[in-house]
Amino acid sequence: MTQVKLSGLTKRFDEKSEPAVDRLDIEIESGKLTALLGPSGCGKTTTMKMIAGLLRPTDGDILFDGSSIVGIAPEDRGAVMVFQNYLLFPYMSVADNIGFGLKMRGVSRSEIRTRVRDMLDLVQMPGFEERRPKQLSGGQQQRIALARALIVQPNVLLLDEPLSNLDAHLRDEMRELISGIQTELGITTVFVTHDQEEAVVLADKIALLFEGRLQQFDVPDAFYETPGTVDIAKFFGGTNFIPGRCEDGRITTAIGRFRAPHTAVDRGEAVLSIRPEAVELGGGGGNSVRGRIRSHVYVGRYARFRVMIGEVEIEVITDPGQVKKLSDGDEVSVRFDPDKIWILGPAADGKDGRADSDSARQPAG
Ligand SMILES: Nc1ncnc2c1ncn2[C@@H]1O[C@H](COP(=O)(O)OP(=O)(O)O)[C@@H](O)[C@H]1O
Ligand SMILES: [Mg+2]
Repeated sequence: MTQVKLSGLTKRFDEKSEPAVDRLDIEIESGKLTALLGPSGCGKTTTMKMIAGLLRPTDGDILFDGSSIVGIAPEDRGAVMVFQNYLLFPYMSVADNIGFGLKMRGVSRSEIRTRVRDMLDLVQMPGFEERRPKQLSGGQQQRIALARALIVQPNVLLLDEPLSNLDAHLRDEMRELISGIQTELGITTVFVTHDQEEAVVLADKIALLFEGRLQQFDVPDAFYETPGTVDIAKFFGGTNFIPGRCEDGRITTAIGRFRAPHTAVDRGEAVLSIRPEAVELGGGGGNSVRGRIRSHVYVGRYARFRVMIGEVEIEVITDPGQVKKLSDGDEVSVRFDPDKIWILGPAADGKDGRADSDSARQPAG
């Protein structure tokens, strides 16, 4: 299979505005699924189109197995792109849609027929040869678009938000299908999505983009456990942020001083982040402070508490048994396990991570 390397890859649509894609350096591992993740407009589709050869980079390079492919025509790159809105030929049968790429390459009719059948089996739609696209559901059309891409046996598969037009139930099904096919064929795949959960479930590695720039390129867990910045942590969501200053493996905040050996910054202005499920209620010990239960909900498999520590509200997720022991208004010991604290640099927007976080809000007034 093929390793894809983006090197200083840049796209400017016009000279005056900021680049849509800004000096991307990413090494996409051969045979793995890499997610290109980021909010709408961050440059995901533009990046994919450059890899596919549908857009020319303004600067930088794209290498397949170490060789530049920027000067090579799209059809000779061995990369195929599946678009968000399928783009099937409406007046052609399913079989003709899937076989189109082979027909262009002059493959014989009988071989096309066999390979179309194999592809329909692969996407779990055997017997659909004679249907027309408009007789198919969105999920089925997406499967046909995938079959049409895979039939030419590409080295690199580029999927641009393939699940975003499907409803939740179909999305799960299609996600599993894509994951299964990708593993079975071992094809180098770049999967674009704006949904961090989708990226985490599917990808071997995630490249997170904001405004055309690479923020972090890492395995999925790392975005939860060791995000590089507050903005990255916020994008992944659900974390408590408490601003402070750090020095020598400790952070001083408005609610106390905590031991915190794991940090993205060494000293100075910083933000303590801890996930709700990593906060311990009751017990006490080192790194604990006094808090008061503000509210709680019981969600069956777990319970979610909102706890005030001084003026700072944090979210805590515990096993449901805690609901029997703790009531709203109770005073409680709150412990931050030093190994589960992650210290970040201050937010780029200067709001120290607190202002628009769901989980750690300052109460009004
Ligand atoms: N053909 C184009 N001409 C001018 N600007 C474009 C063009 N295509 C995309 N852009 C701009 O480039 C940025 C990135 O777009 P895109 O790659 O489509 O983002 P994403 O796929 O992440 O939503 C956006 O600001 C978009 O408006
Ligand atoms: Mg897009």
